[in-house]
Amino acid sequence: MKSIKNITCIGAGYVGGPTMSVIAQKNPEINVTVVDLNTERIAAWNDSDLSKLPVYEPGLDEVVAEARGRNLFFSTDVEQAIDQADMIFISVNTPTKTYGKGKGQAADLKFIELCARQIAAVATSDKIVVEKSTLPVRTAEALKSILHNTGNGVNFHILSNPEFLAEGTAIQDLQNPDRVLIGGENEEAVQALVNIYAAWVPQENIITTNLWSSELSKLVANAFLAQRVSSINAISELCEATGADVNEVAFAIGKDSRIGSKFLKASVGFGGSCFQKDILNLVYIARTYNLHKVADYWEQVIIMNDHQKERFSDNIIKTLYNTVNGKNIAFLGWAFKKDTNDTRESAAIYVADHLLDEEAFITVYDPKVSAEQIYRDLDYLGTRSPEENRRLVKVVNNPYEACNKSHAIAVLTEWDEFKTYDWQRIYQNMYKPAFVFDGRNILNKKELTEKGLVVYSIGE
Ligand code: UDX
Ligand code: ADP
Repeated sequence: MKSIKNITCIGAGYVGGPTMSVIAQKNPEINVTVVDLNTERIAAWNDSDLSKLPVYEPGLDEVVAEARGRNLFFSTDVEQAIDQADMIFISVNTPTKTYGKGKGQAADLKFIELCARQIAAVATSDKIVVEKSTLPVRTAEALKSILHNTGNGVNFHILSNPEFLAEGTAIQDLQNPDRVLIGGENEEAVQALVNIYAAWVPQENIITTNLWSSELSKLVANAFLAQRVSSINAISELCEATGADVNEVAFAIGKDSRIGSKFLKASVGFGGSCFQKDILNLVYIARTYNLHKVADYWEQVIIMNDHQKERFSDNIIKTLYNTVNGKNIAFLGWAFKKDTNDTRESAAIYVADHLLDEEAFITVYDPKVSAEQIYRDLDYLGTRSPEENRRLVKVVNNPYEACNKSHAIAVLTEWDEFKTYDWQRIYQNMYKPAFVFDGRNILNKKELTEKGLVVYSIGE
């Protein structure tokens, strides 16, 4: 197989953008073109002002500055980019289906299928097609079928190369991955992709497997991680009931090297585009094979997560004397975790929805999420009209303004800056008792309590 000179990535989102930037940075002799149908997104990737990149990730701006225009390009010309590529990454979104069979569980593969059909229609030379999006097991099979049956007689080799980057640390994760996983049948094609990563990843960290093991490993990795969060969150409720402290419990069990200390942080609930979707996928696949006990087992991770979000908002309502009607609740944070502007499946959305059902007024401050995005997230729920969402929810650029004249503050994201605020000043401008609900256990409870605030944390 000839060496790879041109890579195209379809989808310039949270996965495609950072991943291709690092591949281009580490392989200066390969041209990498990232394409997207969304012209605004591509314009933002090309903006000379690097603070306008559509994805906020620490360190991403430097990588883009180094490679863009040299061997990294962002474009809306999908067809041309497909035609010139030796290798095509598919990094389009695969949301959970919102209609029909598998609604609420199965992944919606329409964007993937559209991509495959477009590749088949345009390609005039052999291509390696790499699935990068999170996909249910055996999607490669579907891709293969579309490409082989509708193409112009050229050869396609399908590889699975799941993404393990976590948002907020994407650049670090890409530059020093625990492992890179490549699944495929054609050895030459697998080797071609191994070579690209070998430019900076030690060979022993590049694992090759069959296609299905690779696809399934991605779902399983995320299911295990999410399961840890749900497990510690389940214990947080028990801690609250018994007087144990979940932070102490997590620290104590994390010292056991068989358990390990990571992913044991109790929270208002996990969010993000992957955990819930991947577990739902796993559950759906298990059910498809009539493995109902397996499906029920994993489904419990989601049930626990939903319970945790609900418990958090219920506690706010209960503490505020059983009513939040007409009261002002300040939200610190809207993103699903710190150091990202991504809000997909963020716990904040569901906590807000619950409080709005109780007719609270909410003022949101998040250092990186725009007002448009916050309203889009609420409108997407379809719980109330867009006008109603805008009447009840205000978005501000200043944390002190968000907390001013509030009855309670809810911390929904663990942004570092929240820890360093002038909490005395915040206290003075709140209604009393001044309640704080720390959904991330990041605030110094003792200090805040001394200042007069009444602080509730998770699992204490
Ligand atoms: C995850 C996987 O980690 C990554 O490997 C995969 O490629 C994509 O999905 P991501 O969703 O970006 O990454 O972030 P992650 O750090 O895994 O956090 C997911 C959610 O769990 C966040 O809402 C986070 O706040 C929450 N979380 C994480 C906790 O509540 N407690 C923890 O201890 C860890
Ligand atoms: P992820 O987190 O998986 O990267 P995103 O939603 O951030 O998901 O990004 C996926 C991107 O894929 C979006 O910008 C979307 O416009 C783009 N996309 C979806 N389908 C196509 C397609 N057929 N051709 C080009 N781009 C596409």
